[in-house]
Amino acid sequence: MTIQSDPTRPVAYLRGEFVPLDRATLDVRTHAFLYGTAVFEGIKAYWVPERHSMFVFRAQDHYRRLQQSCRILHMSAPLSAQQMGELTAEIIQRNNCREDTYLRPIVYKADLRIGPILNVPETRDDFCLFTVPMSIYLDTEKGLHVCVSSWRRLDDNMIPARAKVNGAYVNTALAKTDASLSGFDDAIVLGEDGHVAEGSAMNLFLVRDGKLITPAVTSNILEGITRSTIIELARRELGLTIEARTVDRTELYIADEMFLCGTATEVAPVTRVDHRPIGNGSVGSITRDLRTLYYQLVHAQLPDYLHWLSVVEMPVQSTVLSSQD
Ligand SMILES: Cc1ncc(COP(=O)(O)O)c(C=O)c1O
Repeated sequence: MTIQSDPTRPVAYLRGEFVPLDRATLDVRTHAFLYGTAVFEGIKAYWVPERHSMFVFRAQDHYRRLQQSCRILHMSAPLSAQQMGELTAEIIQRNNCREDTYLRPIVYKADLRIGPILNVPETRDDFCLFTVPMSIYLDTEKGLHVCVSSWRRLDDNMIPARAKVNGAYVNTALAKTDASLSGFDDAIVLGEDGHVAEGSAMNLFLVRDGKLITPAVTSNILEGITRSTIIELARRELGLTIEARTVDRTELYIADEMFLCGTATEVAPVTRVDHRPIGNGSVGSITRDLRTLYYQLVHAQLPDYLHWLSVVEMPVQSTVLSSQD
């Protein structure tokens, strides 16, 4: 299939069709706008110029998680994971993406009505998708200085962190904003019980005595796709032991290494927390190795992990035509 595109006029997918991005708008009465009742994913696609292709990382796993978020919110994605995957490839081609790109799929409650209840008869859930060029989310070269936030992570019985619910990102925004206003690069949030959950929008790993430690999936975290990738790489490529368990705040202060990870963040070393150096205050060797492996994996350089990448071949030359075709 040859997709014709005008790179100066990107498109979004909304209400079952591709439309110019600046016309992909919603009615102010939309339930998702009124109540935050939408679920989303962040997917990254990498440009590999030698292959003239974009490589989309673990798209099917993201779409499976999107469907799980929908289940928690009494929503149903109007498309299957496979159909959403196909649209992902199509929008990359239509928008002529030739640089690292972040994709934002959303399933949102499209009803125009007052009242927060989710499962009214004949409720309408719509799927939308757009792309944003994104090479770097956090500047992670020299290591981050993070704080423990005074904001607590939402509990599973409040707004479940396991679901990627739009409205829940007010919690993320408060933690991230306060950290930034206080001069930190990011924040670590604790759960209501005082144990470590995760970063503002990323999962967290520590190294202690050569072991990799990460908060368990029952610690009010998003079950991150990068997290599971890191666990696999650490086990298979570095032969490390991984402990997924409850993590105390003070374990942060005595860790040998620490890093945050996520689709946009990738692997971000943390070298200071609450004004205390982690280890000797520089990026640790396990963190550096995992960061390199992750980079190689998402750029299609590790043959054993190619099943996690979907290839979108880009035409050698694109013709500028209408986005409506
Ligand atoms: C709260 C939160 N935790 C963790 C992550 C990392 O998840 P993933 O690796 O699937 O991107 C994200 C990513 O968006 C997030 O928002």
